[in-house]
Amino acid sequence: MPTIQKIETHGRPLRVSVDAEPKQEGRPALWPSVGEYPIYDPFLYTTMTTDDERNQRFRTALSQLAPDRRVLDIGTGQDLLWARESVQAGARHAVAVEVIEDAFHKAAASLPALTPQDRITLLLGESTSLHFAPRADVCVAEIIGSLAGAEGAAAVLADARSRHLEPGGLVIPHRAVTLAAAVRLCDLLPEQPVAFAEASLPYLQNIFDWHRKPFDVRLRVENPPADALLSEGGPVEVLDFNGDLQTEQRTATRLVITRPGHMDGVLTWLNLWCLPDEAPLDALHMKTNWATIYLPLFDGPVPVTPGDIVELSFAASLSDDGVHPDYQLDAVLHTADGQQHHGSLESPHHGGAFRARAIYRALFPTS
Ligand SMILES: C[S@@+](CC[C@H](N)C(=O)[O-])C[C@H]1O[C@@H](n2cnc3c(N)ncnc32)[C@H](O)[C@@H]1O
Repeated sequence: MPTIQKIETHGRPLRVSVDAEPKQEGRPALWPSVGEYPIYDPFLYTTMTTDDERNQRFRTALSQLAPDRRVLDIGTGQDLLWARESVQAGARHAVAVEVIEDAFHKAAASLPALTPQDRITLLLGESTSLHFAPRADVCVAEIIGSLAGAEGAAAVLADARSRHLEPGGLVIPHRAVTLAAAVRLCDLLPEQPVAFAEASLPYLQNIFDWHRKPFDVRLRVENPPADALLSEGGPVEVLDFNGDLQTEQRTATRLVITRPGHMDGVLTWLNLWCLPDEAPLDALHMKTNWATIYLPLFDGPVPVTPGDIVELSFAASLSDDGVHPDYQLDAVLHTADGQQHHGSLESPHHGGAFRARAIYRALFPTS
């Protein structure tokens, strides 16, 4: 059974269903999706700086592309990670940019201890509002979400390519793809309540404080059991950072059900290439800080059998901040008995509905 805990949003108490079990290694856990909001703290930065699966890919790409080049590190974080790696790999110079003031000040405090510090310039601000001269040869930007584009990578890197990079300059990472498969939420959290992990409550509070009111946050599922998937994964969002980069897109994907069960939504996860010819990082099958995102489509579970088809339409359009995408999903599930089940979801970056669907009414009970 979940316990009910209260958080406070703008002086008003908000009840939240919480799984109070202490975190155990490998146990599934439900969190709000945090990466697309300016609420990074030392804990979140540490989950990234200790992510070997991620870091070795960025390091390898920088060791190939940074030597003798000018590098721009967008979203350098509190640790100046990729700016430091760039100069260590032999870059002529690195400009590091960070928009969160606390992270910027921590990064600035670490600069004097670095050698050779004179090859890194650190700036406070959003890359989309800043001007750099001269232009860079390489742009490294780890602003990739668990839904690949959720942190604004498409708009930020399209802007970087047009204003900050030399013609023919290269972006790291090279490509990011979001995959989706049919699931039922309670299969992702077996033998435990469908409730937020207790450790995630401060982040939920920070997201709502940032937005000034609660809304139906995207649901991040850590360590989902691999056998919970009801279909193969299909690509729903494709970001080619060195190719035809779309800031808005709509895809149509066909998921074939492969095992009997019940479906109420899709699970999405990231595939990421830092270099074009490497095996991608796969956030479902590898241990990494990126988790999976559960997107509800039907308010109740629909029985499925092998061979059933889900026609999934997935759209990303820029929110009113011009950077972070709002997502919209429409699904038609064709079952063996000839029926069609229609489901949909609006998942804006910020704002939108609160408690619009059964799952959010259960996560934020009013009584
Ligand atoms: C996922 S973290 C990555 C931090 C660090 N680069 C790393 O890889 O460990 C993304 C960081 O980028 C920053 N950020 C996102 N978009 C930005 C932008 N357009 N300009 C400057 N900073 C940005 C965020 O504030 C956050 O610190």
